[in-house]
Amino acid sequence: MQSEPLDGNGNSETNLQDFVRSLNKAELHLHLEGSVQPETLREIDPSLSLDEIRENLHYSGFAGFLKAYVWVTKKLNSPEAYALATRRLLLDLRRQNVRYAEITLSAGVLLWKQQKIEPVLDAVIAEAGNFPDIRVGWILDAIRQFGVEEAARVFAIARECRESGVVAIGIGGDEERGPAEWFAQLYRNAHEAGLGLTCHAGEVCGSESVWQAIRIGARRIGHGIRAIDDPELLEILRERDIPLEVCLSSNVRTGAVSSFEAHPFRRLWDAGVPLVLGTDDPALFYTDLLHEYTLAADVFGFARNELRKLAANSLRYRFQSTASLANALFEQQP
Ligand code: ADE
Ligand code: ZN
Repeated sequence: MQSEPLDGNGNSETNLQDFVRSLNKAELHLHLEGSVQPETLREIDPSLSLDEIRENLHYSGFAGFLKAYVWVTKKLNSPEAYALATRRLLLDLRRQNVRYAEITLSAGVLLWKQQKIEPVLDAVIAEAGNFPDIRVGWILDAIRQFGVEEAARVFAIARECRESGVVAIGIGGDEERGPAEWFAQLYRNAHEAGLGLTCHAGEVCGSESVWQAIRIGARRIGHGIRAIDDPELLEILRERDIPLEVCLSSNVRTGAVSSFEAHPFRRLWDAGVPLVLGTDDPALFYTDLLHEYTLAADVFGFARNELRKLAANSLRYRFQSTASLANALFEQQP
């Protein structure tokens, strides 16, 4: 392979955007519902005006964001609507050269809307089957504040659908109103059933929330950025090789951090904590995965070899087993 021309810092002169696109990478923290763009919402419900959509997607603070997220989710009122959202999302991931995605479905919100999970899951899995170039694993997410019984319903379906493409379970929603410890037994059962375990934690609550996620067996942490305040926790994350799924734009937009400058991303990296980059809810945070990598370079000073490592991490920390993934995925990198 021909080597690239290097600048004074050892970085290739290839345009950053092209470089990031060319990396074989996975997206591991991505909510289907948070990926739905206004135009897709209008396709689903033509009575919506763009002004109305914009108004409802305008929020401030974490609580405001959750409200906007629920508003979008309510518009997805049929399996066909979820399938359309999946198609649009996978087209966008293809554009970014994302080879593998673990997409979270807010199954807990489906139950709350009194929609059945299974037909929606069937529809999105079938749609993903139309994209043989992108491997997809599904994560069924319960909502912390809806409690243990509702989560048990979600995770039972995850167990049943393991063969057809569900790779993991998680809990999201409001960290302050549903401690991870409530879900300890359910996480144990899910692990025994062969499901991966992730958990949103340490996004708006402190490091204790991440400790709890680890205690219930989480193998990845959604966000987890408050771990930076707790050296002992950083050591455990390193030792046990538990990655944080960091979503830079999300954290600024929800107010989890006050600015990119205040974000602990670089410090977590320098502390040797395993990290992967994700978008969380790209439509609500006006981002995509290419932009998140670009931020890592432009705002946090990540060199190209560090971006390569981030991309490699995203493949390494996936839940789906190697056996079912094409080797081509791992033929890195530019
Ligand atoms: N659901 C979708 N995005 C979320 C986030 N950032 N935190 C918690 N729950 C979510
Ligand atoms: Zn999330």
